[in-house]
Amino acid sequence: MATRILGIESSCDETAAAVVVDGREILSSVVSSQLDIHRKYGGVVPELASREHLRQIVPVVREALLQAGLNFNDIDAVGVTQGPGLVGSLLVGVTYGKVLATELKKPLVPVNHLEGHVHAVFLEAHLGGKVPQMPAVCLIVSGGHTLLYHVQSAAGNSDAPKPGFQFRRLGGTRDDAAGEAYDKVARLLALGYPGGPIIDQLAGKVAANGSNFHEKDGLHFNPVKIKSNPFDFSFSGIKTAVLYYVRQHPEFEGEIETRKKALQSGLRKAADLLPLCSPRTLALISKFQAAVVRDLVTRALDAALQTNSRTVLVSGGVAANSELRDRFTSKAAETGVTVFFPSRALSTDNAAMIAAAAYPHLLAGDLAADDLNAEPNLRLA
Ligand code: KG4
Ligand code: ZN
Repeated sequence: MATRILGIESSCDETAAAVVVDGREILSSVVSSQLDIHRKYGGVVPELASREHLRQIVPVVREALLQAGLNFNDIDAVGVTQGPGLVGSLLVGVTYGKVLATELKKPLVPVNHLEGHVHAVFLEAHLGGKVPQMPAVCLIVSGGHTLLYHVQSAAGNSDAPKPGFQFRRLGGTRDDAAGEAYDKVARLLALGYPGGPIIDQLAGKVAANGSNFHEKDGLHFNPVKIKSNPFDFSFSGIKTAVLYYVRQHPEFEGEIETRKKALQSGLRKAADLLPLCSPRTLALISKFQAAVVRDLVTRALDAALQTNSRTVLVSGGVAANSELRDRFTSKAAETGVTVFFPSRALSTDNAAMIAAAAYPHLLAGDLAADDLNAEPNLRLA
């Protein structure tokens, strides 16, 4: 019998609900983004986020059921993000999930948001005809996280093989997450919020035309060296290097002011901002992106080689980045590793990945206790 799980996600600034069958087939996936609310602050404001989740959770869940063509009673279980994330945001989803599961007399499965990002890769991989082989290395790279895990199929014993995955943490960021660095650099240069997508698009314009600014202009970011753990990351140095570069070049001031005004007037697409960016700004953006991408790809592929993994899974908002996808794919081919990404829609926060991650836990009987609470610092391994 097919198992239909209603997934609920509210860990940060997206209220999401989805219905997924047997952890694989997406019947619906609805995401209500709060971007327009947080944009003017240049980042997520936790109090506003929880208030908006409260407003959105009921209509978003209803819409997910409607799109799946189901009623509440057709659902076999509810999966809800328990953590990590913003406590006030998580509480909305956890409380709603508890009440709903109790009312429906259906099992409630607490889900680790990070595990959801791993499942996002598997949700669609089979559609491409290629299933990721285990063991794998997984890079979760978003506005809140930059983490590297070793992933294996959960073992159990021969009488009771365990479904799902086992995780071992290999490393993580020591300061900013990669997406956070994108957002901070975009804020510094007045490119809007969130910074990742716009920098991605603007940097693409430079790659096509080439750039006249090179090392002699001081536009060069050395690879970040981290003592003790080669699989840890650090992005605050790159971000600070961008800041110093901008301070050393007063000619940036005028165009930054112009772009601030453009943003205030509602212009924020790459096509709107491109004519307002000097060649030096575009070169700076593209060097910044190249440095971040090089670092992510190098450490993840090194981790795959060192752990004898033939597969790398990349997930989280920054996994939507074009240069990251291109560089991963070409470098991986050189090293005999296969890289898998979710589609762009499943790279960023969504509830289909939460419903998919809930499925093996439901099979294993890992259900929520009556006193289930939000865990803002929940770990994966
Ligand atoms: O996973 P996500 O939606 O939310 C969490 O942070 O959990 O990721 C959002 C982050 C933001 O920092 C955003 O700037 C970044 O992902 N991002 C990108 C791209 N699209 C989103 N970064 C680089 N390139 C992109 N195309
Ligand atoms: Zn996330």
